[in-house]
Amino acid sequence: MLILGIETSCDETSASVVQNGQVILSNTISSQIDIHCKYGGVVPELASRHHLENINFVIAEVLKKARLQMTDMDALAVTRGPGLIGSLLVGIMAAKTLAALYRIPLIPIHHIEGHIYANFLEHNLKPPFLALVVSGGHTELIVQQGYARYKILGRTRDDAVGEAFDKVAKLLNLGYPGGPVIDKLAREGDPNYIKFPRPYLPGSYDFSFSGLKTAVVNFVSKQSTINYQLSTNIVASFQQAVIEVLVNKTIATAVKLKQKKIVLAGGVAANSALRTLFLAQIKTGGLKIYYPSPLLCTDNAAMIAGAAYYRIRNKKIKYNPKMLMFKAEPNLRL
Ligand code: KG4
Ligand code: ZN
Repeated sequence: MLILGIETSCDETSASVVQNGQVILSNTISSQIDIHCKYGGVVPELASRHHLENINFVIAEVLKKARLQMTDMDALAVTRGPGLIGSLLVGIMAAKTLAALYRIPLIPIHHIEGHIYANFLEHNLKPPFLALVVSGGHTELIVQQGYARYKILGRTRDDAVGEAFDKVAKLLNLGYPGGPVIDKLAREGDPNYIKFPRPYLPGSYDFSFSGLKTAVVNFVSKQSTINYQLSTNIVASFQQAVIEVLVNKTIATAVKLKQKKIVLAGGVAANSALRTLFLAQIKTGGLKIYYPSPLLCTDNAAMIAGAAYYRIRNKKIKYNPKMLMFKAEPNLRL
């Protein structure tokens, strides 16, 4: 089964052709980082305008790379939400137009479901498992009970993890997006240099990172100058606080709920220190950890096409104009 996926929820214009939910035949990600970095974050109006300019080229390119045509597709998939409304609309309108024109079934997909299914593109994985979703907009602990059955245990009460990385990087003038820069810079720093708070929120599956972010702001404001070495120590100490909370809380939850598999998803799952700490800590509990390769952790359309496959694989679905009767949903819940 061939599915063409489209993802435009934030600042990457991406399309991908995926076979049977596992084989990526092509995956193009046109990033807008160069456009947004000078503003220190995503400017929604600019994002939607650039999606509009790129979407047709990106779709044409993935078909060409896969040596296929639109008429070869069994289904189309597109991110329905959550995300920036203007950005989502571009992908959805492109997908609806193609679906109507070629009479191909269209499957709307939840962005977070896509992030989780990025793991299925590279691993032989079956539910149930415990998923830790960590991205620029989300921090969630989810039990995935079946292929489309999710139980959300907890979420962030304030900043998402990726957002905290981005804000700390902005504070230190390290550029946007902050996660990859901090990941790299932290390798040169001492993670125990500053003992930042570890917000565990005992008794709850929720997270909270804004207090930790404020602790970094306060530390920085007390320094007269920040040289390169000190900045490596600050980001290493901040990152250590974040990953300790994520790893310890997730493992404790897996043990408590008797889940044997932990699945990481979202942009922050690309963080090398987070992966290393998980690998070190799970050894003791007889748990297994899964995460996508870094390119599939951040936003991409292969994960959207992958998720759509598991929604339709056992069904005989046919194009029906009613399939186009859905809207972009910036705050869509899983
Ligand atoms: O999943 P994603 O591409 O977009 C959302 O759905 O939000 O995640 C983007 C987030 C950004 O906040 C970025 O700073 C963070 O993921 N990120 C990282 C790393 N790579 C991306 N955070 C920490 N370490 C990384 N290596
Ligand atoms: Zn994302």
